Amino acid sequence: EPAVRVPDWTDIEGWWPALTAASEKYTRGVVGIATGSATYPGAAVLSVAGALAGPTGLVRYAGGARAEVLHHHPSVIATDRVADAGRVQAWVCGSGLGTGDEARTELRCVLAAPVPVVLDADGLSLLVDGSSAEQLRHRRAPTVVTPHDREFARLAGEQPGADRVGAALRLASWMNAVVLLKGDRTVVATPDGRAYANPTGSPALATGGTGDVLAGLLGSLLAGGLAPERAALAAAYLHGLAGREAARHGPVTAPDVAGALRSVVPGGAARQ
Ligand code: APR
Ligand code: MG
Repeated sequence: EPAVRVPDWTDIEGWWPALTAASEKYTRGVVGIATGSATYPGAAVLSVAGALAGPTGLVRYAGGARAEVLHHHPSVIATDRVADAGRVQAWVCGSGLGTGDEARTELRCVLAAPVPVVLDADGLSLLVDGSSAEQLRHRRAPTVVTPHDREFARLAGEQPGADRVGAALRLASWMNAVVLLKGDRTVVATPDGRAYANPTGSPALATGGTGDVLAGLLGSLLAGGLAPERAALAAAYLHGLAGREAARHGPVTAPDVAGALRSVVPGGAARQ
C-alpha cells in the first residue's frame, strides 16, 4: 500500500512563484491554451479564465473561439492554430476541442512541443484511439492528464473503482504522465509511484465548466515553473478553495469559480 500524502496551505504558498520588483511578463511564464471550438466557445473562455488566475505573465490562446476569448479576456494573444501561437512554456489542450481531424492535428502539435502539457476532456478522448497515446508515452517533457471518472474509465480500460489511488497510480505509470483523477477528493498520482489526496474540494464544484477552469490554472502553474506534481496539487487545492469561497455568495457557476480563484491564491484578497 503506497502512502497517500495530503498537501497543506504552507506547501502551496511555498510553491507559488512570488512577484518581485524584477518580475517581467515573459519571465513569469507564458501559457498556451488550445481548448474550445466554434461549437464550444465557453470551454475556451473558462480555461483561459483559469489560466489568468495563475502566476503566468501572459496567456496565449490558439483555437476556434478567438472572438469569444478576446471579448471576455482582452489581455490574451489569440491565434487560430497551435502552430501559429508562438512560444509558450506549457500547453493546455482538450476541453471543448471536439474530436474531429482538426482537433487531432492540434493535439499532435501540442504533444510535439518540448514543454509540459495538460490534457483534459476531448484531449483525453482523442488519446483513446489513434497514435496520440503512443506519442504521449514517448514525450520527454511532462504531461498531466485530468480525467473525471468516465474519462478515466475510457483511458485506462477500467473504472477507478474503490481503490482510486491504486487505479490512478497504474494509469500514471502506463501513460508516463501525472494523473489528476477528479472527484470529491481529487487524487494526484505520479509515474514513479507517489500519490496524494487533495483535502480542499467542495460539492459546489459539481457544475459544468469548473473542470475547464482547473485545467487552465494547472497550465499556468506549469508555465510558471512548478514541477508537474506540485502544479497538479496546487491547482486542485486552490480550485477547491475557490469552490468554497464562491459558494459563500450563493449557487456557483464556473465563471464564479474562476473569479474566486483570484482571491484565494497566495496574495489574493481572501488571504491577506
Ligand atoms: N466534491 C468536490 N469536487 C467536485 C465534486 C464534489 N462532489 N464534483 C465535482 N467536483 C470537481 C471535480 O473534482 C472537478 O475539479 O469539479 C470539477 C468537475 O470537472 P469535470 O468533471 O471535468 O466537469 P466539467 O469539465 O466542468 O464539465 C463539463 O465535461 O465530461 C464533460 O460532458 C461533460 O460537458 C461536460 C463537461
Ligand atoms: Mg471536464
